[in-house]
Amino acid sequence: MQIQNLKLLNFRNYHSLELSFSNNLNIFYGNNGAGKTNIVEAIYFLALTRSFINNEDKTVISYNEDVCRIEADVDQNKRNTYKIILKTNGGKVAKINNKIVSKLSNYISKIKLVLFRSDDLRLIKDSPSVRRKLLNIEISQISINYLKNLAIYNKLLKQRNAYLKMMYVNANESPEYLKTLNEKIVDVGLKVYNERKKQLAIINEKITKYFYKFTNIEGLSLIYSSDYNNLDKKQILLKMEKSLSKDLFVKKTTFGVHHDDIEFNLVGHNLKLFGSEGQQKNAVIAYKFAIIESIIEQTNEYPIFILDDLFGELDKEKIQNITNNLNSKVQTFITTTDIDFINQENLIETKIFNIKDGKIEEK
Ligand SMILES: Nc1ncnc2c1ncn2[C@@H]1O[C@H](COP(=O)(O)OP(=O)(O)OP(=O)(O)O)[C@@H](O)[C@H]1O
Ligand SMILES: [Mg+2]
Repeated sequence: MQIQNLKLLNFRNYHSLELSFSNNLNIFYGNNGAGKTNIVEAIYFLALTRSFINNEDKTVISYNEDVCRIEADVDQNKRNTYKIILKTNGGKVAKINNKIVSKLSNYISKIKLVLFRSDDLRLIKDSPSVRRKLLNIEISQISINYLKNLAIYNKLLKQRNAYLKMMYVNANESPEYLKTLNEKIVDVGLKVYNERKKQLAIINEKITKYFYKFTNIEGLSLIYSSDYNNLDKKQILLKMEKSLSKDLFVKKTTFGVHHDDIEFNLVGHNLKLFGSEGQQKNAVIAYKFAIIESIIEQTNEYPIFILDDLFGELDKEKIQNITNNLNSKVQTFITTTDIDFINQENLIETKIFNIKDGKIEEK
């Protein structure tokens, strides 16, 4: 899929903007604070109805304005117009071809998109919840049911945790109810587990190759760890029962797929503990390339690829290893402060935009 154009009204430092894109590569360069990230943030917002900068929708509305609009024509099987309208009072409306889509879950992931930004180094360094969140976004682009199952799991988990609190106060609460809840949680938890396992195995087949292309180092792999690892439903239920006293004590469910984690492993060593900054960054980029390939394989659609501020911390050679491996059918958006880092000779069908204080000029 390709985004043909982008129209912004009162989005961050753009009061009124219209751009048309290349189907292949689009590069935005300019100084810090010029408005490069704002452009790709708008594209991300249009696809996923949220920002990747923060969770407060209204921060994207230009200062002193009450309404903001993002709009684009996207070539998929046919051309569709996507639109998001945000208001300072919290209103958010998503439209496809001018029809309101009332359930956002039916809108999200229609535009498939993979994002890399420098902050994604956190993917390796930070707590497991960051890795789960990213994995969730990525898998939900491939399987709509995954997102639904995950929502059910989280809802049941909340119910169970609330019930634990009640049991803590009143020991007479019904253990039967807890048993039924456990059953439901494990049923849907297993669906989440199986999908994660399947998708990580597919990504794993590809990540080694990309990491080698970027760094000349063999042997990067992903290791999926989960409380559910190698257990069947009966065994999981038993484990949950066994952890009840602990659960009651902390008033939370301590066993389940909400603790899953992924380790980036380089020939037996956890990259989080032993990898250099550059290796970690290349590992995350390799992960993104692997995800793109797996989305293409499984959905027959070419997602959009955003690389926000790609070049910090990477040397010129590594950057070229990366840009040379971009898939020409994947529409790509790159932001950078330094255009010299890109070898412009090899670029075909590329649009280069220079941004100065929110003014964009096509080169
Ligand atoms: N709601 C808003 N209304 C108006 N301007 C905003 C709003 N939010 C952010 N800005 C402005 O947008 C600019 C930052 O834009 P952006 O993050 O896109 O910069 P950038 O070009 O990516 O910079 P860097 O190279 O540092 O990443 C800042 O000048 C900031 O003041
Ligand atoms: Mg930026």
